[in-house]
Amino acid sequence: MKILPVIMSGGSGTRLWPLSTPEQPKQFHALATQHTMIQETAIRLSGNEFLKPVVICGLTHQPLAKAQLDAVGLSPQAVVLEPFAKNTAAVAAVAALLGDELAPDALVLLVPADHVISKPDAFKAALQGASEAGLDNIITFGITPTGPETGFGYIQRGEPIGDGVYAVKRFLEKPDLETATAYLAQGGYDWNAGIFLFSPKVMLEELAAHEPKVLDASRKALKHAAVNEVTRLLDPESFAECPSISVDYAIMERTNRAATSPCDIGWADVGGFAELWRLGAKDGVGNHAQGNAILIDAHNCLVRAEGPPVAIIGLDDIMVVSTPSGIVVAPISRAQDVKLAAAAAKKLQ
Ligand code: GDD
Ligand code: MG
Repeated sequence: MKILPVIMSGGSGTRLWPLSTPEQPKQFHALATQHTMIQETAIRLSGNEFLKPVVICGLTHQPLAKAQLDAVGLSPQAVVLEPFAKNTAAVAAVAALLGDELAPDALVLLVPADHVISKPDAFKAALQGASEAGLDNIITFGITPTGPETGFGYIQRGEPIGDGVYAVKRFLEKPDLETATAYLAQGGYDWNAGIFLFSPKVMLEELAAHEPKVLDASRKALKHAAVNEVTRLLDPESFAECPSISVDYAIMERTNRAATSPCDIGWADVGGFAELWRLGAKDGVGNHAQGNAILIDAHNCLVRAEGPPVAIIGLDDIMVVSTPSGIVVAPISRAQDVKLAAAAAKKLQ
């Protein structure tokens, strides 16, 4: 069974400002390796079992997506351009509709463009097991939780239904801290990796049952799209009618056809600089430095200097990120608050 990768590339990555900007969000940057995140995504989903990918991104990001995928020889077979973002239920609808058109017998693999998967072979093995087990299901990939993180979906494992695949007893998107803590204490829950494998038919049926307005608007927007070679610009008038809701709330919390493949794939959602520091290559004293960084008697710092030299002297646990778009200096422990700086910087423009 072939797999059609559909890459969701709509994130804004405001917690990685000023590296990530509205013009060039995080998926178009090299964060963990020498390739950009969207390139890494396409590379790990290439090979015999995969069809050429489809990319779904914002209209203004089309040149970046094209240039970066062409550069690694993995040009998409279709690029869907959104005139504005309508969240991931719409993306899932467009993915299922296109899958049904381009490769009805293949499974669609809906993947974010901005995740790290450091064990691609384990990921391929999980896909293999899942594609045999679950033609009638929407398959999620479960990550062993390391804490009561409230930014993820939680999957409660049910009965086994195949090779390493389980029915989903319950899916809860972004629980509050109390609930997440209780789930961890209870056990049997995984984080949702935000990667979904399904046959187009199953996703279309579930959208029709649970979120028909998203399906109708997406179908019309695709039908009336402006087509130019491999790109299709969704019809703005039709797409404007689409409710903005994530696939997690719209489908995964409601469907009784969810399944899960718990897997150890070295997954990380590189949301902010603290994760980037954790994942990044370090010198002997814990500094992750890139670009024109000068570190003197500094420990456990993150420095990315894309402009003139940046020197840090006698400081520990500090992040300094300097790009042509801005400069941020903070304790790494405050990395989550970078999004406040990104919002403030936007107002200055
Ligand atoms: N093209 C497009 N259009 N892509 C989008 C849009 C959109 O309107 N909205 C989001 N995306 C892309 C983002 O770029 C990201 O790669 C992915 O879809 C998921 O969206 P997020 O907004 O980052 O979702 P989340 O992090 O809050 O939650 C999801 O991911 C978690 C794991 O990282 C959920 O699936 C959670 O259940 C999951 O745990
Ligand atoms: Mg996310």
